[in-house]
Amino acid sequence: MKKKLIVGNWKLNPATLAEAKSIVLKLNKVRGATSTVVICPPYVYLGLLKSKFALGVQDLFWEEKGAFTGQISAPMLKQFKVKYAIIGHSELRELGESDHEINLKMVAALGGKITPILCVGFGLTADMNEEDILFHLQTQLENGLRGIDPDKVVVAYEPLWAIGSGHPADPEHTERVAMFIKIKYKVSKVLYGGSTNAENAQSFLKKTRIDGLLVGGASLDAEAFSKIISI
Ligand code: PGA
Repeated sequence: MKKKLIVGNWKLNPATLAEAKSIVLKLNKVRGATSTVVICPPYVYLGLLKSKFALGVQDLFWEEKGAFTGQISAPMLKQFKVKYAIIGHSELRELGESDHEINLKMVAALGGKITPILCVGFGLTADMNEEDILFHLQTQLENGLRGIDPDKVVVAYEPLWAIGSGHPADPEHTERVAMFIKIKYKVSKVLYGGSTNAENAQSFLKKTRIDGLLVGGASLDAEAFSKIISI
């Protein structure tokens, strides 16, 4: 089986550096992880965590330097050995991030030799028609991937209703969406994200067209995340 990619999105957690170090210490003890593992902590912890796994970030800015208060650039992140960047997460889209800004960030990440993980997702309820979902995903994909070599990026499919709800999407539906993204946009890696945990991760990872997971809540639980990366 192809090696899967498991990305832990810590979001605005944990509250202290001591907790962050303790999670990484426990993860570092995992022997023989079967997947490629990426941890995306808040920026402030990046240089302070000694992780044996790759580091990622949850966002970045498209300019390299200048008068952009509060922003962080790809070249800055590269100095902290950041290899991946989550871009266009629905929680940032919700705060007003546009498809155009997302595209600029994708371009900036690639320019800085950081692999962008483009998040796409739609639907506030689980019973949405699959055709409608695909229709809306196309807009996010076309805008997000504009002018970009799709082979160099990862896409994460995250239905909005599944994020943090305790109700993951159906793996069969997810695999069909992954196939659609791969065939139509020539993206080679598609992840699933939304309420994954140690118990349900396997049902997604066993699907050959799902290349891995973007894990939120469960990535802060060292025991659960250790199980997921060892599946
Ligand atoms: P969740 O978050 O696993 O807590 O649902 C996933 C995400 O938002 O990336």
